Amino acid sequence: MFEELEKVREKCLKCTKCDLHKTRNNIVFGDGVVGSKIMLIGEAPGFNEDMQGVPFVGRAGKLLDDILGSVGLSRKENVYICNTVKCRPPENRNPEQVEKNACREYLDKQIEILKPKIILICGAVALNSMMGLNGGITKVRGKWFDGPNGSKMMPIFHPSYLLRNPSHKEGSPKWLMWQDIKEVRRYFDSL
Ligand code: URA
Repeated sequence: MFEELEKVREKCLKCTKCDLHKTRNNIVFGDGVVGSKIMLIGEAPGFNEDMQGVPFVGRAGKLLDDILGSVGLSRKENVYICNTVKCRPPENRNPEQVEKNACREYLDKQIEILKPKIILICGAVALNSMMGLNGGITKVRGKWFDGPNGSKMMPIFHPSYLLRNPSHKEGSPKWLMWQDIKEVRRYFDSL
């Protein structure tokens, strides 16, 4: 599995299929445990991710690690993390459709090789790519949908959104995320 994934990463390293390659410092392919039951798909690398070549290492990434950690999950032990688009869009704008299309083969290969049982769709960009839905996460978050290879997919809020909405009150986005991640843990334990 690791070798197969490595071949895809090497192809991605040389990728010039869209203009994002011109401004990237690093591709941001994926991080975490190869072969884990949970794959989390984010949007695209930001400044810190582009500099380090690792997904979710900035403020949003720290929050994501805390959210996973709150139910005993981590990228060191049981989660693989990647993004819809592997190169940083300038000024952190949302990736354009041509960029998402160009990058799609890498995400598809990651899913095909890793065969996660649980796919967490983190944010609206991933929601659009994985489920073809436009619009926000709010209406679909916390629900299970059938995914590739018999997996279950759950859309969840993006941690950047939670950073902008810090309330913990019942019904707030952070509170909802807490319900969702507990459900993820429950399902993970049942596998
Ligand atoms: N936001 C994302 O969606 N992915 C990252 O890797 C970092 C921030």
